[in-house]
Amino acid sequence: MDSPTHRRAGKKIHIKTFGCQMNVYDTDKIIALMQKSHAMEPTDNMTEANLIVFNTCSVREKAEEKFFSELGRAHELKQDRPDVVIAVGGCVASQEGEALLTRAPYVDVVFGPQTLHRLPDMMQQQHLKQQSQVDISFPEIEKFDNLPPVRAEGPTAFVSIMEGCSKYCSFCVVPYTRGEEFSRPSQAILDEINELSQQGVREVTLLGQNVNAYLELRDDGNDVDFAELLESICQLPYIERVRYTTSHPLEVTSRLAEAHARLPKLSSQIHLPLQSGSDRILTAMKRGYSATQYLDKIRMLRQARPDLSLTSDFIVGFPGETDEDFEATLHLIDQIGFDGGYAFMYSPRPGTPAANLPDDVPLEVKRARVQTLLAKSDGLARGISEAMVGTVQRILVDGHARRDSLELRGRTDNNRVVNFPGESSLIGRFIDVRITATATYTLRAEVFNVA
Ligand code: SAM
Ligand code: F3S
Repeated sequence: MDSPTHRRAGKKIHIKTFGCQMNVYDTDKIIALMQKSHAMEPTDNMTEANLIVFNTCSVREKAEEKFFSELGRAHELKQDRPDVVIAVGGCVASQEGEALLTRAPYVDVVFGPQTLHRLPDMMQQQHLKQQSQVDISFPEIEKFDNLPPVRAEGPTAFVSIMEGCSKYCSFCVVPYTRGEEFSRPSQAILDEINELSQQGVREVTLLGQNVNAYLELRDDGNDVDFAELLESICQLPYIERVRYTTSHPLEVTSRLAEAHARLPKLSSQIHLPLQSGSDRILTAMKRGYSATQYLDKIRMLRQARPDLSLTSDFIVGFPGETDEDFEATLHLIDQIGFDGGYAFMYSPRPGTPAANLPDDVPLEVKRARVQTLLAKSDGLARGISEAMVGTVQRILVDGHARRDSLELRGRTDNNRVVNFPGESSLIGRFIDVRITATATYTLRAEVFNVA
């Protein structure tokens, strides 16, 4: 038996996460799984890991390239330490499957976003058979039934309510890599949030590629849609704020607008990707709405919730996008008054319909459009921050400030980070602060009321 001084150090897992919030969520689940099944502890240092996991993204070419270069580093490490296990999950794994092993035969396990719960078993099989394992199937709800119980880390938490996407926008790989939309049972979601609230969580962010497509079909015909799910979550006693991301304009319904009017716990901040303000481009993208229809949805939401804060995603340089199309996007941004957004250069993705169109907007034009768009949306966001100076805002205090550990940090309803001097005992609570100044990305404040 090992004496305490000679006890073997525990095994370690290093995960590199690329891409969206869903992948960040999945990464937490993978760590919890490996802690439970193999008593592994996470490490930030790839060189000391026994298991290296890449949770990949294929939504744009750049993310995919970054992954392959990191994979090369792991390969070098494995040449010195052949016992290191390399596992690849996420959307590149889902898209490539067995083909990944042709390109990188040293990879031991390939799993998809819906089979991550099988990683411990797949590692065991790989060890027993000394053969790489691949499983990128879509067994849907099985994933959630096989994850360890949730553990809160602080007063905020992410909760996945649906997976996949059935919208098939012409540029996007997600429906192919994550499968069609499916919704978790509402009772399982409520139980999970209830459990998190018992552990101190006060704010949840509901996650999904299209959260407002949420639909639980019930045998008794009493189906649960997104508005009803929000209503039930807002009834949970300790949950004080509910956010969600990402939603799709097509499924912004009057029922959802009514929920925003009726439920004060529902955050006024919504991320609603527009992609383009040109009808011609929106049609080519197969988004299913026109600029006017998008505007109508915003009007409906603002009627229900006048303090609505909107952020968005934009793609510039989609095939055939002219200066006029881009101007239409800028015009719509001004008209709507977004509170910030993400601008992406169009990147053709293999297997999507748009990849058959000529990628005809030159790179320097795409770059210039991204810069123009970001300058505009940053300017709008700055204006909103400046207008908040002097106002009292309700924030959830989630920890110490990043730059100054003597200060605290919280988030406003419209999702701005606020730094302020205060007692550590406020962490985990909702309090009122008065905004005193704006910095580039954050606000400064003083405590107003802690009741
Ligand atoms: N429903 C999710 C959402 O709306 O965030 C879809 C997510 S996708 C992972 C996030 C964003 O990536 C999209 O809204 C779109 O702006 C961008 N995107 C998707 N495919 C792209 C592509 N081929 N080129 C550039 N940007 C892309
Ligand atoms: Fe992608 Fe469109 Fe769905 S952007 S995730 S196919 S809504």
